[in-house]
Amino acid sequence: MRDIIDKLYNENNASREELIYLLDNLDEESRSYLIDKAHDTRMKTYGDKVYMRGLIEFTNYCKRNCEYCGIRRGNKEADRYRLSVEEILLCAEIGDKLGYKTYVLQGGEDDYFTDDIMVEIITKIKERFPKNAITLSLGERSYESYERMFKAGADRYLLRHETATKELYKKLHPGASFENRRGCLLNLRKIGYQIGAGFMVGLPNQTTEDLVNDLLYVKELTPEMCGIGPFIPHKDTSLKDEKGGTLEDTITILAIVRLLLPNVLLPATTALGSINPIGRELGIKAGANVVMPNLSPTDVRDKYSLYDGKICTGDEAAECRRCIEGRINRAGFQVEVGRGDNIQWVKEEKLCL
Ligand code: 5AD
Ligand code: FES
Repeated sequence: MRDIIDKLYNENNASREELIYLLDNLDEESRSYLIDKAHDTRMKTYGDKVYMRGLIEFTNYCKRNCEYCGIRRGNKEADRYRLSVEEILLCAEIGDKLGYKTYVLQGGEDDYFTDDIMVEIITKIKERFPKNAITLSLGERSYESYERMFKAGADRYLLRHETATKELYKKLHPGASFENRRGCLLNLRKIGYQIGAGFMVGLPNQTTEDLVNDLLYVKELTPEMCGIGPFIPHKDTSLKDEKGGTLEDTITILAIVRLLLPNVLLPATTALGSINPIGRELGIKAGANVVMPNLSPTDVRDKYSLYDGKICTGDEAAECRRCIEGRINRAGFQVEVGRGDNIQWVKEEKLCL
């Protein structure tokens, strides 16, 4: 067990067999050794800094029907909303004042937000805050669409691959294409975005092999960012009675990803904070180095309901800002209010600021 963890630490690599062995046999002692090594690795790459992103959830309309997701098209109970361009700009204004130098514009796959409208939003944010970074998280779109938004000034794109096992992907995403999603990530990279892949831990019927597929896929893709959180059932979906992912399993996976990808930007996700009051802090102690507090107006917060029990739905942006900094400090880390680009990316001078 130690040999595998040491190999992960020293070589940032492990074989399929080693990863399966590790996940199937991890005892408490080895697990804390793994977490120590992940922490050590993050200290060498990013130090004790935790990057902040201001999350703007600007539409919960979605044309997709992912089985796990509370804003899936088929959920007639969802109370739908869209923010106007002005409301989005106001969120950006508030975020900038609170020290968020990256905005994450996230939404369901909503055809209302055409390329023209997205370009307008991106252009206006960049005119007002030229130094701030924009991350998009709008799902699958065409190459041309991604390219137009990039040219308008978007810097990064989050598109979790969700699961790297084709059969599981097909079960969870009726009518969607496994290949297209991966193709989108490659298109985004080709265009010049910093890309974020990612997956859920503890999906119904997910096996150790499936998780190892995810680990090997992100190792090969080497995304600049990787979003990982526990699956949490949502009451208005077909998976409502399933078990959710655990804190322990999610933290273990975060630690392994930190070792496989020492330079990756790794969020301690809201989902992790939602299954345990100090889930995000524990994630940060296991190698995570990003938090994404909410900037959306409070009157729409609870409507962006991907899973049950989501935290921070009642808190003003300023309250989340204060809360998260306190949490990070108490965990022994420092908030960093720069753009927070991937360090490898900065080294290779891929940024044209
Ligand atoms: N539990 C946990 N995470 C979820 N997501 C969507 N639904 C759920 C759920 N029920 C995640 C997906 C998506 C991201 C925005 O939120 O991985 O990519
Ligand atoms: Fe939102 Fe704590 S981060 S209230």
